[in-house]
Amino acid sequence: MVRRIFDHIDNKTTDLGTETWNEPVANYRSQARLDAELDLIKHSFVVFCPSLALAKTGDYVARSAAGVPLIAVRAEDGTAKVFRNACRHRGVQVAEGHGCKRVLVCPYHGWAYALDGQLKNIPHGGGFPEVDAKTSGLVPVPSKEIDGLVYVGQEASDSAASPLEVIPKIIPDNYELVEVDEMDVDANWKLYIESALEGYHIRSTHTQTFFPVQYDNLTVVERFGANSRVTFPYQTIEKLRNKPQEEWSTDGRVTHAYHLFPNVLVSTFPNCLQVVVLEPLGLERTRQHTYLLGRVAEGTDEERKALTESILQGQAFAKTGAIEDREVVMSAQQGLNSGANDQLTFGLFESAIGRLHAGLQRALG
Ligand code: FES
Ligand SMILES: [Fe+2]
Repeated sequence: MVRRIFDHIDNKTTDLGTETWNEPVANYRSQARLDAELDLIKHSFVVFCPSLALAKTGDYVARSAAGVPLIAVRAEDGTAKVFRNACRHRGVQVAEGHGCKRVLVCPYHGWAYALDGQLKNIPHGGGFPEVDAKTSGLVPVPSKEIDGLVYVGQEASDSAASPLEVIPKIIPDNYELVEVDEMDVDANWKLYIESALEGYHIRSTHTQTFFPVQYDNLTVVERFGANSRVTFPYQTIEKLRNKPQEEWSTDGRVTHAYHLFPNVLVSTFPNCLQVVVLEPLGLERTRQHTYLLGRVAEGTDEERKALTESILQGQAFAKTGAIEDREVVMSAQQGLNSGANDQLTFGLFESAIGRLHAGLQRALG
């Protein structure tokens, strides 16, 4: 990786794809297409949250995925369980947002569910002579926990899990959850993902954040299955030139942007990373769920303080960069609505975006 980056720096080059990708604008503006994409999300195993958001027994994350309210909880036996977040009485959601509970108690009439989903208590139960507690637990959803990520496959068959095998371990062991954040963006979910998958816009868009410390249009692009990893080096990587090659490490000297097909991004920063799930709410509206993870502080007081500082810096850096991205992405949405373009052209620098669209085309037929 370092060698490839040095070659690009020396030759003023970047990784190139083999072909231009033209994506019809209709694919961003058609409700039928969005419905098919949501259906694809339901039939695939997709990241729901990082395991670190469910670190302790009773920790939960409740949110909608592809329009369906779900809740992931850390059960007593240590496994992550995911349920449809709907009370079996009259459907109210048993918890919202994220937090920690020993029992999930529905806020409407108080039906109570254990962390494994079993119905434990019905207040004034005599009024429900026909309810069988054994068959009235929360409805489970197929899920998998692999390398620090909890995946759900709402309507997925088990064979749908096999594409996960190509995903490398991304989350380091010595990390913890720092922050959970949620924000709505007025743009199609694909426009947003696209903004993370190329380095061609660093100079123009990220004038205050990435450009001063990175490079103009310099990325290494790798693929694994339908997924990609786009690597953005920092200028500090130059320091490695004076070191023997055995000591070269990209640690802290690059940002990796992983695209986990179809709608998840993981971006790494020095001492922290963020897992971002982009939930389509409509053709022009996307909810961004962000889980910020940071390295666990260790060592002397001074070292711990330096680490906390570094994570705060990474967090601010990522947030400001995201604001810059959101501006252009919402503008691109308005541009799609203007009727100027029948298709969007993704050039040779933007091959990871072509891979997203090719993957969707393949999956949707
Ligand atoms: S809807 Fe949940 S207890 Fe009535
Ligand atoms: Fe960007």
